Amino acid sequence: MSIQLLKGKRGIIFGALDENSIAWKVAEKAHENGAKIVLTNAPIALRMGEIFKLGEKLNAEVIPADITQVDDLENLFQESMKILGGKIDFVLHSVGMSPNVRKGLHYANLDYNYMNKTLDVSAISLHKVLQVAYQMDAMNEWGSVVALSYIAAQRTYSSYSDMAQAKAMLESIARSFGYHYGKKCKVRVNTISQSPTVTTAGTGVGGFKSFYAYANCMSPLGNASSDECADYCVVMFSDLTRKVTMQNLFHDGGYSTMGISDTLIQSCFTCQGECFDDLEQKEKILGLKKK
Ligand SMILES: NC(=O)c1ccc[n+]([C@@H]2O[C@H](COP(=O)([O-])OP(=O)(O)OC[C@H]3O[C@@H](n4cnc5c(N)ncnc54)[C@H](O)[C@@H]3O)[C@@H](O)[C@H]2O)c1
Repeated sequence: MSIQLLKGKRGIIFGALDENSIAWKVAEKAHENGAKIVLTNAPIALRMGEIFKLGEKLNAEVIPADITQVDDLENLFQESMKILGGKIDFVLHSVGMSPNVRKGLHYANLDYNYMNKTLDVSAISLHKVLQVAYQMDAMNEWGSVVALSYIAAQRTYSSYSDMAQAKAMLESIARSFGYHYGKKCKVRVNTISQSPTVTTAGTGVGGFKSFYAYANCMSPLGNASSDECADYCVVMFSDLTRKVTMQNLFHDGGYSTMGISDTLIQSCFTCQGECFDDLEQKEKILGLKKK
């Protein structure tokens, strides 16, 4: 449903890789809601070619930028202002990548060069985007910057690895820069902490199916989809949320506030006790006979 919430606004959207990407849905919804946008991704991701199909569909230019390279970001903002005809009203940071996760390294055996890369691509990049925009005075008053996060910033998810530190830093940068950008010209900076979502980055995390199923069982409203995340981003870019800044906003069907749910309790009764180390306890509690 479109009610033209972003009519006349100009935006830059980072991170649409393919049609499963959360950024892809945000681009579609921003367009539906009347925004003019520029799409961007790393040069290597552009080689896949999918993003150009989206650009064609939405009548949006695609500008390559490695989000860790300040020169690329300066060029991106400069060109976007030219193409869109003025300063930028909203930015979506939808970028995350961990070489440690990709290589399947155990958390107690991380490669520190990889870890630096994780932090640079997934967190420090938000600072770079904000600093470039701030120094170039590239954003309009009451502009809105949203970055996507995950609850592993606050809690331990055993296979999320160094992405947990990246998300904690991402949320911290949103708070710190939110102060400075708010004071300078009322630009808002927030993170949205999204449910597990079936995308290339999401499914790359070990045990993703369990992340997804567990969160779904725990959430009274069920997991939030990428389309629903895109709706929330549109609202955060709109003038309806002008006094929301420096927040980490959970978009997770209620998951972050839950302890245990009826659904999980019921499915625990059908479990075969894989989670028990102590076989006697397993027998006593589940009534499963030792073999
Ligand atoms: N999928 C989930 O379960 C989930 C849950 C919560 C938060 N998130 C976050 O949402 C965001 C988007 O991820 P997604 O799930 O849509 O997956 P995705 O794989 O579709 O998107 C990740 C994007 O990051 C881009 N990227 C990687 N390195 C880059 C670089 N150096 N410069 C520019 N772009 C670069 C990739 O090309 C890709 O487009 C990420 O921050 C992710 O951590 C995802």
